[in-house]
Amino acid sequence: MSSKNLNIAALAGDGIGPEVMREAIKVLQAVGRKNGLQLTITEAPVGWAGIDAAGKALPDATLELCRKSDAILFGSVGLPDRDPTIPKDQRPERAALLRLRKEFGLFANLRPVVLPKALAHACPLKVDRQGDGLNLLVVRELTGGMYFGQPKTTETIAPGQQRAIDTMVYTTAEIERIAHVGFKAAQLRRKKLTSIDKANVLENGVLWRDVVTRVHKEYPDITLEHMFVDNAAMQLMLKPTQFDVVLCENMFGDILSDEAAALAGSLGMLPSASLGNTSGEITFGLYEPAGGTAPDIAGKNLANPIAQILSAAMMLRYSFGLTAAAAAIDQAVATVIAAGLRTGDIFNAEDKSARRVGTSEMGDAIAAAI
Ligand code: IPM
Ligand code: MG
Repeated sequence: MSSKNLNIAALAGDGIGPEVMREAIKVLQAVGRKNGLQLTITEAPVGWAGIDAAGKALPDATLELCRKSDAILFGSVGLPDRDPTIPKDQRPERAALLRLRKEFGLFANLRPVVLPKALAHACPLKVDRQGDGLNLLVVRELTGGMYFGQPKTTETIAPGQQRAIDTMVYTTAEIERIAHVGFKAAQLRRKKLTSIDKANVLENGVLWRDVVTRVHKEYPDITLEHMFVDNAAMQLMLKPTQFDVVLCENMFGDILSDEAAALAGSLGMLPSASLGNTSGEITFGLYEPAGGTAPDIAGKNLANPIAQILSAAMMLRYSFGLTAAAAAIDQAVATVIAAGLRTGDIFNAEDKSARRVGTSEMGDAIAAAI
């Protein structure tokens, strides 16, 4: 596999996207040299950068590049100051990110949430609720449910009165395929899966619970637990150590993954993978940090590049099966954290061994640790 040329589309996007992407590319090049990989990384504009360059959040040439690539390394898109100036369906979130997810059938979203012991101070929970450090994985269904269901409209029903409609819709097959992803992920972890639904109220919840229960029969080594989404939101705060894999439909996963992310202290630490189908040895995927564009700190060399760098590691692991190269990146990040390097979001002034660094210095140190 490593002898093959791997084509990566790097879409940095807006806000802090370009500066964290620069560091991820630096680290990929370092790991490529070290492990003898042939990585061809091609950059293209997306989001407001796409609108400014070619009039569209997802320019045709960018989409074409993605089609020819083996994986997409994505930064982040959307600028709250500019978004309201164009129609909703042309804004970066819908026109670029949701479009790419749908276009490439990226139905499985993996969001690992890890709080290393060294960053205990950054977690909003008391230390005695953190166990030996937190480590859970949100598996979120990404191309179904309310975000894509039709009808999706706003209509005027009387003067000054509108009605907005979103539709929550799932089929058995959609639930089955994400359930398999969840159970397989649990097999590689602590062998527990908590399936989230609202089966006490929603038809979708009843179907979700039935299908997950049925798929579970193929995974007798996994402990399955069902939990209502409102209770799950509370349990994540009260006892996050009870979770291993958390399996959710699209909207519940969107919400709970942000809540879980808060436990890791900073969105700047969290990568994600959005996976489609596998063909041959390659699983097409889009890899992006969990945080947004953070326009307030953009261009100031303040952003934490670790989420973007760990997203590149997930790409090597999940799309290309390059386990050793991916582990080398994870290890380099751990080494640099252990050495005390901290961007502002994870800096603790009381920790005398911590040293505050900027985006590029953090990237340099991780590349050097490869
Ligand atoms: C996420 C984001 C997106 C989502 C937005 C930007 C459309 O919140 O990836 O979680 O809701 O899926
Ligand atoms: Mg979200």
